Amino acid sequence: MIVRILYISLGGNTHHFIKKMQAYAQTHSTVEIDAEEITDASFDKLEQAPFFALVPTYLDGGNGIDNGVKEIMTNPLFEQIEYQNNRDQLIGIVGSGNKNFNIQYILTARRYGDYFDAPVIGDYELRGTDQDVERIFNALVQRLEEYTQAN
Ligand SMILES: Cc1cc2nc3c(=O)[nH]c(=O)nc-3n(C[C@H](O)[C@H](O)[C@H](O)COP(=O)(O)O)c2cc1C
Repeated sequence: MIVRILYISLGGNTHHFIKKMQAYAQTHSTVEIDAEEITDASFDKLEQAPFFALVPTYLDGGNGIDNGVKEIMTNPLFEQIEYQNNRDQLIGIVGSGNKNFNIQYILTARRYGDYFDAPVIGDYELRGTDQDVERIFNALVQRLEEYTQAN
């Protein structure tokens, strides 16, 4: 089974988390994690198979709920999902952030979930702990299995 991930990582935390998850998958399963980092330089392309989005939170201003929220960093990933019918292949979102942001914790992921009508299947803070790696890995596999059986 291949778990496909599109992600964005401005400060490297998400990248680090995914590397740890790939190492975990190799030693604990036969699952392969195929992860692609989307950057400003990425060009829009069609997604041919189901994928997950791992997205950190970068918001500026407002309280993020009912007054002024501005997405400052993750737009390339948003645009890749929004391109043509790519959103139809998005089967789950994992949000990361920092709980010091209180109500805005993982708000970018929650906004993606609402906008693209996809479930937020998990969250973790910053680089995540070993427990987070295991928990999120299991959530991805479970969601992909459920999706595959239903479709
Ligand atoms: C300018 C800035 C704004 C942020 N805003 C939020 C926020 O609104 N909510 C939140 O949960 N985390 C917020 N964070 C924390 C990041 O989402 C967190 O550090 C994440 O691990 C960054 O991932 P990356 O290193 O892969 O880019 C913010 C971080 C920065 C630097």
